[in-house]
Amino acid sequence: MGAANVLFFLALLSFSAVSTFAENEEDPGLVMNFYKDTCPQAEEIIREQVKLLYKRHKNTAFSWLRNIFHDCAVQSCDASLLLDSTRRTLSEKETDRSFGLRNFRYIETIKEAVERECPGVVSCADILVLSARDGIASLGGPYIPLKTGRRDGRRSRADVVEEYLPDHNETISAVLDRFSAMGIDTPGVVALLGAHSVGRTHCVKLVHRLYPEVDPALNPDHVPHMLHKCPDQIPDPKAVQYVRNDRGTPMILDNNYYRNILDNKGLLIVDHQLAYDKRTKPYVKKMAKSQDYFFKEFARAITLLSENNPLTGTKGEIRKQCNVANKLH
Ligand code: HEM
Ligand SMILES: *[C@@H]1O[C@H](CO)[C@@H](O)[C@H](O)[C@H]1NC(C)=O
Repeated sequence: MGAANVLFFLALLSFSAVSTFAENEEDPGLVMNFYKDTCPQAEEIIREQVKLLYKRHKNTAFSWLRNIFHDCAVQSCDASLLLDSTRRTLSEKETDRSFGLRNFRYIETIKEAVERECPGVVSCADILVLSARDGIASLGGPYIPLKTGRRDGRRSRADVVEEYLPDHNETISAVLDRFSAMGIDTPGVVALLGAHSVGRTHCVKLVHRLYPEVDPALNPDHVPHMLHKCPDQIPDPKAVQYVRNDRGTPMILDNNYYRNILDNKGLLIVDHQLAYDKRTKPYVKKMAKSQDYFFKEFARAITLLSENNPLTGTKGEIRKQCNVANKLH
């Protein structure tokens, strides 16, 4: 090898070393406190906004919690859930599985507060995940440290949602399969369904258990209340008729859900089945007994869900507004 060749070879070596380094620099993936240099106040601003909104509208916290499931379980935690439909495509929000999702305008309130401090830096995907984290804490659930660095997807498609999100009457086998595709095991699934310890279910998702005859699996003590809240077999689409998921402690994320489902007071077929399937029942019993165990498993499963297939590095974009992709502005 001549001197020139050696030099060339060395140059190549260092060039490739530099370029790999640059790629690593660009894409550390998800990390703790991703915005520490670019927007150090980001997590504090989000926490503050979530608190303020919770004071005014308690149900915003239910939405932040439900959002993390509906966004992250559908392909990626990429805030595709937040996009509005375009002239060409119907978005995820518009599907039957998304029925009842609410408070999207307050995600924009949080985003605007962050944009005022650090324009164009913090993704809607991270705002969605961190608002879920802070919403869980508002509801009395555990505080879950979560990584950031997600970027926003540019598309949202209604037609893929059913492939990812189970229906209200799905079998436990199908539910376990869908979550295991995200690396979430059986106790993780049982813990995540504990989210149904807060919020509501509209009568449209319940009337098939009440009419034409009452599902014998329902606790007869719970039935009069359900019939009172859902008096019509075909609910009036204009009346907002619903039953609270947990009548005992409807505003608190606690393990009362597991006692309810063991007592046949689970509203959805999946909730009820969770307490009876032999794979899930042992965990339901354990969580009904121990709030600590529920919180530990819930925190672990939320972490896994929040890290499902994110866009990082230079993929995707940082949206200016959470309901519209940038290129369409
Ligand atoms: C098998 C999986 C699941 C199914 C089939 C399911 C289905 C549903 C349905 C049908 C509702 C009622 C919506 C309405 O009528 O307004 C609901 C509410 C809710 N779900 Fe789930 N869900 C599942 C898993 C999860 C997970 C994993 C989370 C969060 C970690 C979650 C969080 C919530 C919350 C917080 C509400 C109440 C929303 C509110 O009051 O605005 N769900 N779910
Ligand atoms: C589940 O409920 C939907 C209506 O929400 C219905 O169309 C479907 O047939 C039900 N599936 C099963 C397996 O019962």
